[in-house]
Amino acid sequence: ADIAETTLAIVEELKRLEGPLLPILHELQEEFGYVPQECLPVIARELNLSRAEVYGVMSFYHDFRDHPAGRHVLKLCRAEACQSMGGDQLAERAKRLLGIDFHQTTPDGAVTLEPVYCLGLCSCAPSAMLDGEVHARVDAADLEALVQEARR
Ligand code: FES
Repeated sequence: ADIAETTLAIVEELKRLEGPLLPILHELQEEFGYVPQECLPVIARELNLSRAEVYGVMSFYHDFRDHPAGRHVLKLCRAEACQSMGGDQLAERAKRLLGIDFHQTTPDGAVTLEPVYCLGLCSCAPSAMLDGEVHARVDAADLEALVQEARR
């Protein structure tokens, strides 16, 4: 099925929920690994929203990507507790090591770098997540190891 058809099927399945937009976006990201541009007009039409509204919600929540991710996804916690424990330096370091900014993927398609806002590990900040696996008290050496693992 093409993207528009799949989107329509998902929207029809979920649109009767209270506040259907987020579940729909989540389901689409689950299905495609990201939320393709082509989904937005379908969602907007079916939910009686403008495309700008759909896009606004999508970009407000940092969980949704509008491009396919790389083979590995490295998320760094950018929320307060982690920031106060050196999260900023860690983020700068990750960007330098990978040569990309947040929301970007290395040119070889290996790693996507994304911010995340609290992984529930605030007491062992700073934290990170590689492909769904959480890591606490990440220091420079840990970060390098994670990046190396992701690049393999
Ligand atoms: Fe980073 Fe909670 S603020 S895990």
